[in-house]
Order: sequence, then structure tokens, then C-alpha cells
Amino acid sequence: MKIAILGGDGFVGWPTSLHLSSLGHEIHIVDNLSRRWIDTELGVQSLTPMDSIQERCRIWREVTGRRLSFHFLDIAKEYDRFKAWLEEHRPDAVIHFAEQRAAPYSMKSDRHKVYTVNNNVNATHNVLAALVETGIDAHLVHLGTMGVYGYSTIGAAIPEGYLPVGIETLGGETVQQEILYPTRPGSVYHMTKSLDQILFQFYAQNDGLRITDLHQGIVWGTHTEQTRLHPQLVNRFDYDGDYGTVLNRFLIQAAIGYPLTVHGTGGQTRAFIHIQDSVRCIELALGDAPKQGERVRIFNQMTETHRVRDLANLVARLTGAEVAFLPNPRKEAEENDLIVQNDQFLALGLDPIRLQDGLLAEVVDVAKKFAHRIDRSRVPAVSAWTKDIAARVDRDPERKALRPAS
Ligand SMILES: NC(=O)c1ccc[n+]([C@@H]2O[C@H](COP(=O)([O-])OP(=O)(O)OC[C@H]3O[C@@H](n4cnc5c(N)ncnc54)[C@H](O)[C@@H]3O)[C@@H](O)[C@H]2O)c1
Repeated sequence: MKIAILGGDGFVGWPTSLHLSSLGHEIHIVDNLSRRWIDTELGVQSLTPMDSIQERCRIWREVTGRRLSFHFLDIAKEYDRFKAWLEEHRPDAVIHFAEQRAAPYSMKSDRHKVYTVNNNVNATHNVLAALVETGIDAHLVHLGTMGVYGYSTIGAAIPEGYLPVGIETLGGETVQQEILYPTRPGSVYHMTKSLDQILFQFYAQNDGLRITDLHQGIVWGTHTEQTRLHPQLVNRFDYDGDYGTVLNRFLIQAAIGYPLTVHGTGGQTRAFIHIQDSVRCIELALGDAPKQGERVRIFNQMTETHRVRDLANLVARLTGAEVAFLPNPRKEAEENDLIVQNDQFLALGLDPIRLQDGLLAEVVDVAKKFAHRIDRSRVPAVSAWTKDIAARVDRDPERKALRPAS
């Protein structure tokens, strides 16, 4: 297949590009490199040293003989160029990772909120409108997030996208309908992903686009089979307070002797998936495309759930690190359960990597190896969800104690 990978320079996009290329697909990475610019804006860098995308593609060719093409394009802002690109290349599938993906970044300031909405909603809508306009019948696979559902506890499993409901008619009968499982976004980023769902529903229904939406859990780990092939193919690893995801942050904190920072009681339960399983799920989803006229196919792309304080304790046990409880900068429930259905990927043959098995290798192979590149001052999560929370978090003595002397 000829596959366009929008956002193919990112944390999930890069190993997906390599994985699908190694399976023999023709891969075209489309990226505006905004993620690299955001590193510059925030004054942070990937824990792992990353080469330019052009250099990464060159090394892949040298190591495997396979070609990756890179196209520098902003799909949110350059609609006409993107449409022309699609017309020229006519991919069989489009995988859409190209969005601003950090909840804390999306809540930093009004400017960051505006950027996240403009970038994410326009990117998704431009892809949909351009597919319709060019008449290209490509399977669109989008990376969404489990976070769209919020984290309230209702004691029932979150289904894979749809919820059967009974509605009482004026005549007193109950009619059955299937609706999108209600979203309850907890940040501007999650809100954009909730809006994406409606855009997909409309274009599948109105124009017969074939769409798969993968509601992914938090991705952990760094390496996949292909990124291990050469040091310059290494994946990015974000550890800073905005882009670092919870488990990856615990791993680097453990590696540099920094307390594992748990927000609130750490009673938040989250869904997780290893990066190797994430790329495998995308392969499985590509092989199971919906037909024209079918509703959007939605998968819950996660393999296990854990409470944040349990994760911190697990990493602390493995590494001897301390755990520090800090005030939560997010507006969210202190404690929640999370039960998620993920039968579809298991039925397609996914054999998940368990957290318990891969964790220590990550600490040693990645976090300890590159510990010299960590800027301790960028480790704390400082983006607060509201002004009140910002003031409370700022006054906290334990947080002050962790702050490096300036
Ligand atoms: N990383 C996770 O834990 C996680 C969890 C759930 C869902 N997801 C979703 O998966 C997708 C990829 O996540 P990631 O961690 O690889 O993010 P990332 O930020 O590392 O990668 C996103 C890539 O998209 C590019 N991009 C952004 N806007 C663009 C635009 N307008 N035009 C062209 N390129 C653009 C960026 O430059 C970057 O290379 C995101 O949509 C994210 O919401 C990620």
C-alpha cells in the first residue's frame, strides 16, 4: 500500500513509519515539524538525541534499503498545498497523527488553547475535505485518545465507540438507537479530539469516507524493533512537564534520583499501551478497513489500566526511588476507576507487552543511558488548568522544595 503518515516525525508517527515500511509499504511522511519548534519554544529537548527527519530517512535507507519520503507541509494551514499533494500521490491509506497532543501544553495560556484548537480541528477537517474533493478513497486512520471520555467512575466498561440507548417516543414506545459514547473532555486538547469524532461521523455518513478512529491510551516505552536497528533511528522521548507522559516521567525521575512526582492522591486510573503494541495496532487497523457507507470504526487502543500511585510504587520498588505527592495542577477527580473494553484488537491478534515486563529495561536502556541530557528544572509539571489552581500549586511548600535554585 501507499501510505501517507501525517505527523510521521512524532513519537508515535516515527516508529509507525518504520514498522509499516519494514512490512513493505510505500511510506510518505507529511509533517510541518511543529513539534520540534515547540521543543524550542519550551526550551526542552527529547531525552534521546534526535537527528533531522531527513537524516533519519537517510539512515533507514542505508540500514534496510527501504525508502521513506518526507514532505514538509502544514496540513492545518496549507489546505491547497495539501490537496494538491494528495492529488499527486493518491495514497491508499492516510494515517493522521498530526495534532498538538499535550493536554498541559493546551492549557498553558489562552494562546496555547487557540493554537491547539486551530491546529487540531483544522488539520482534521482539511484532511476530510481534501479526501472528498479529490475523490480519493483512502482509508483514514486517526489517532484519538481514551482521554476524550474523561475519568468519572460509573462502574461500567467504556465500550468501543458506541452506546446502545433506548429513547422514549411521544407515543410512549421505546426506540433503540446507537450513539457515540458521550465524551467528557478534561482539557482543550481532549476537547479537540472530541470534536474530531463529530467531524468523522459527519464525513462517513455524508460522503462515505472510510474512517477508523483509534482511542489510544497513554503510550509508554521508547523502542520498537525497527528503532533499535541503528542509534540514529532512535525514537523521541519526552520527559518535560508538558509533553512527558506519566510513566515515562517516572522512569527518568527514577534514573536521575528525582522523587517520582504524583499529583494529588495519585488515585487517577489511566489506560496504557507500549509503543511496540501501538504500532502493531495501527497495522491491524489498516488491515481491517471499514467499507464505504459503514459507520466510523472505533477501537480502544490500550492494553492495561493502572492507578498512578500504584505505578509510582512499582517504579519505586524496582529502582529505589522516592515518591512525592504534590498538589494536582489539573482539574479532575482525585480518584477514579477505569474499565475499558478492548476486545477488537485482541480478536485481531494483538498479544500485549505488559508493563511489568518491560519497565526495568526502559529505565536502564533509555532513562539511565541518556540521564546526562536531562534538565532537572524542566521536570516539574507547571501548567495549571485554572488560575485558582495555579495559585494554590505555586504556594505548595513541597513543590517549592523540588524547585532548583536559580
Ligand atoms: N503519545 C501518547 O501517549 C498518545 C496517547 C493517545 C493519543 N495520542 C495521539 O497520537 C497522535 C500522535 O501523538 P505523538 O505522541 O506521536 O505526538 P507528537 O507531538 O510527538 O507528534 C505529532 C506530529 O505531528 C506533527 N504535526 C502537528 N501539527 C501538524 C500540522 N498542522 N501539520 C503537519 N504536521 C503536524 C508534529 O510536528 C509531530 O511530528 C496525536 O494525535 C495524539 O493525540 C498520543
